[in-house]
This record gives sequence, C-alpha cells and structure tokens, in this order.
Amino acid sequence: MSWKFSVSHSLPLFLLLFLYSFPLISTQHNDDPTFRTMHDFSGYPVDKSSYTFTPSNSSSLSVDIQALQKQIDELSTFSDTPAPSVTRILYTENDVLARRYVKNLMGLAGLSVTEDVVGNIFGRWDGYEPELTAVATGSHIDAIPYSGKYDGVVGVLGAIEAINALKRSGFKPKRSLEIILFTSEEPTRFGIGCLGSRLLAGGEALAEALKTTVDGQNISFLEAARSAGYARDEDDLSSVFLKNDSYSAFVELHIEQAPILEEEGISIGVVTNIAAPASIKVDFEGNGGHAGGVLMPDRNDAGLAAAELMLAIEKHVTESGSLDTVGTVGILELYPGAINSIPSKAHLQIDVRDIEESFRNAVINKIHKAAKSIAKKRKVTLSEFKIINQDPPAHSNGSLIKAVVDASDELNLTYKYMISRAYHDSLFMARISPMGMIFIPCYKGYSHKPEEYASPQDIENGVKVLALTMAKLSLR
Ligand code: GLV
Ligand code: MN
Ligand code: MN
Repeated sequence: MSWKFSVSHSLPLFLLLFLYSFPLISTQHNDDPTFRTMHDFSGYPVDKSSYTFTPSNSSSLSVDIQALQKQIDELSTFSDTPAPSVTRILYTENDVLARRYVKNLMGLAGLSVTEDVVGNIFGRWDGYEPELTAVATGSHIDAIPYSGKYDGVVGVLGAIEAINALKRSGFKPKRSLEIILFTSEEPTRFGIGCLGSRLLAGGEALAEALKTTVDGQNISFLEAARSAGYARDEDDLSSVFLKNDSYSAFVELHIEQAPILEEEGISIGVVTNIAAPASIKVDFEGNGGHAGGVLMPDRNDAGLAAAELMLAIEKHVTESGSLDTVGTVGILELYPGAINSIPSKAHLQIDVRDIEESFRNAVINKIHKAAKSIAKKRKVTLSEFKIINQDPPAHSNGSLIKAVVDASDELNLTYKYMISRAYHDSLFMARISPMGMIFIPCYKGYSHKPEEYASPQDIENGVKVLALTMAKLSLR
C-alpha cells in the first residue's frame, strides 16, 4: 500500500505565518494582540510557562546546521575503515568512542544521561510536568561495514540539535523530551537487527538467547557488552524492557535510503508503515575434497548448493506477485575457503522483506522448500535453516502522522506520505508507543555505502520538523 500525496502550500498561509512570526515573541509581548492571535491560530491553549515559544511560532526555530554537520563529520571519524566509508560495529573501541562523543553532546545540551545494561543511551530534558510520559525520539549510530555517515546518525545528532534549537527558541516542554541512542540497530555483529529497541520493546526470547549468542570470532554477547562497560553484573537482560506506554509518542528522523524524495523534489517523507523484515541463516554441508582429485560426478559441493539457492531466492522473490517483495543474500561464506578445495560447507544469510507479511512469509516457505530439494539433489546436508527474525510490519500512529504533517505545513515544507522499506528502531518502538517517522531526501537514495549523502539544507529541514513535532507532542 502506498499513499501518494504531495502538497504545495498556499501563499496566503505562508504570508500569514511569516507576518505573525515578527516580532519575536517574548515576555514583553504578553499583552500584544498578535501574540494571542498566534495561540488562537495554533489551537493550543496559552500556557504561562511556555509563552516564549509556541509550536506555531516555527520561525523562531533556528538550527545550527554548521555545528550539526561538523558533529556528523567528527562522529564519522570513529570508524574501522577509512573515509569516506564508515564501519562502526557494536561494542568495538570505535563504537565506545562514538557513544562517548554523543553522551558528551547530550550533556552539553543540558540533558540528563542514563544508560541501560545493553547500552541504550537516554538523554532527557525534563518537562514542567515531569510525571507525564515523555515524548521520545532517537536512532542509532552503529554502521555496517563500508557504509556512510548519515544512516541513523541524523536521527541522533539531529535530535540533539532539535532540542538545542527548541531551547534557544525559549520553548519549555510540558511532557519531558527524551533522545534514545539505540544499541545495534544493524545486525552486523550478532546477526540480529534492532537489538536495543527489540529488547526495550520486551524481547524476552531475545534476552534469553543473548545469554548464549556469540559473534563470528566466538566472542559472547555478554563478554562483548562487558568489554564496552555494559552488562557488568547482569546475565539477565530483562531490566532493559520498558513498560507499554512508557512514552506518549516516539518519532524518529532518518534519511530515506531510497530515491523518491530526491527524484520528486520533496523535502519531507511522512512514514505511514515500515515493511516487514525477516532474516534467515542457512548451512549446507558436503564432503569437500581436493579440487584436482575429485571428479565432478563424485562431488557434493556445498558451494554449488548455495549458488543454486541464491538463484532460487531471486526467482521466488521476483515471482511473489508483489513488487514490494525484496530478497538479498548479503553473506555467503565458503569453508574451508581455499581455491583448491571443494567447499565442504556453505553459510548464507538471507534478508527478505515486504510491506505485506503474507507475501514475505509465502516466499520464506518457498525458500525453505527450495533449500531442502537442492540439498537432496546435490547430496549435501541442509544442516541449518534458521529463521532469525520474522517481524510484522509496523504502522505509524495517525495523530503522530498529523503532527509531522502539521509541522511540515507550518515550516512551509513539501511532504509526501511514504512507506519505509528499510527497517528502523521505530519498528519496535511502535510496539510500546505511538510511533511516527520523518524522512529526508538522500543523494540518489544511496545508503549502506560510502556515497551516502544528505544535504545540509535537507538535514536542517528534517531537524526543524522533528523539533516542531516534538514541541507539539510535548504540549498534549
Ligand atoms: C536497516 O539498516 C535495514 O537494513 O533496513
Ligand atoms: Mn542501516
Ligand atoms: Mn538506519
């Protein structure tokens, strides 16, 4: 399902906002009729403690885009691979340094910073009614091998700048505002995406599984977490779980990771749904042997079974009946990994997604059948077919969609409703909170590669929409 709707704004509305945005509101304008008109226009009650800024007074929001761009550039230097690529893997030294960098910025923004035992980091700005549930935002800073510097980062550093902008404007939140840096949105190290947000959303099975999970170097999750200063005395990760309705709203800012906004010249994507992702691990095992000595009819080559399965995946995905089904084999490992040795084992990791869970699940079933029949035909063993995760799609909350649309309107930015085909921590936050997402364009839709780029203007627009959306939600 895709809603196609873009808006160009009427000049009168813009003029009205423009005229009413001068002069800047301050205490001395308490008796100014223009001030009241603005409140009336916004539909929000006049609140004594927030009268220096209202969500409709968006012109007083100034984003320091130079500072934000500098932070994005600086954060990208915490990388295991050379610029322009970024590689930042969970709990490595560069991940720890990058986390420290973000915590420092949160502190400078006046947020109180806390962390849970897996390293989800929370920066909170207390509202004047702190007992109310907070409005949250946030994203991730881990980066898959040889990726770019904007994926996730815009939603973390941009959120800190959104709060700085709100503070500069004189806004006082009623509900507290909270930024979350989620641990390991990327599945790189332990094979599980959205690890931190999955746990926050009450992932009991995951909390249990992580006790015995190891990475490719056989380092356990708990050992890795401890080396980064987390999970110190805890094997039980259930302390991470949040209660349902811990937040009144969660809104994530992210680059689109697809080319639609840029191609259509639209500033803001208002996400309505997040596609349903699944990942599967498969192992084939054969006898291996000498590449010269074993004649072709006598082989059972695990590598060829993997190759055949890859082509079968492409076939089943493209024939699913839905253009939205996508399938990728991003990891293929052959053992023992010598040019003159027939692969005795092949390990594949498969990523399958669709907007509709049923299409995706039908494809997963076909992939499983194909794996079994290929194993039989090639006389190899299908020693593992493990579905690591098979998540349902998530739907944005209607009133958050409206808040993002209203913020875009007030900022005179064009917007479009869209689906997120990439997954995000929002997929899991939607389980415990009303959820919304704000997309900004990225160059040619490039992402998960070093060429990833978002322009300062687009980032600034996104940060303003985020700030204004949070301000609106905070006053509810
Ligand atoms: C997130 O990084 C995804 O793979 O969609
Ligand atoms: Mn990513
Ligand atoms: Mn991301």
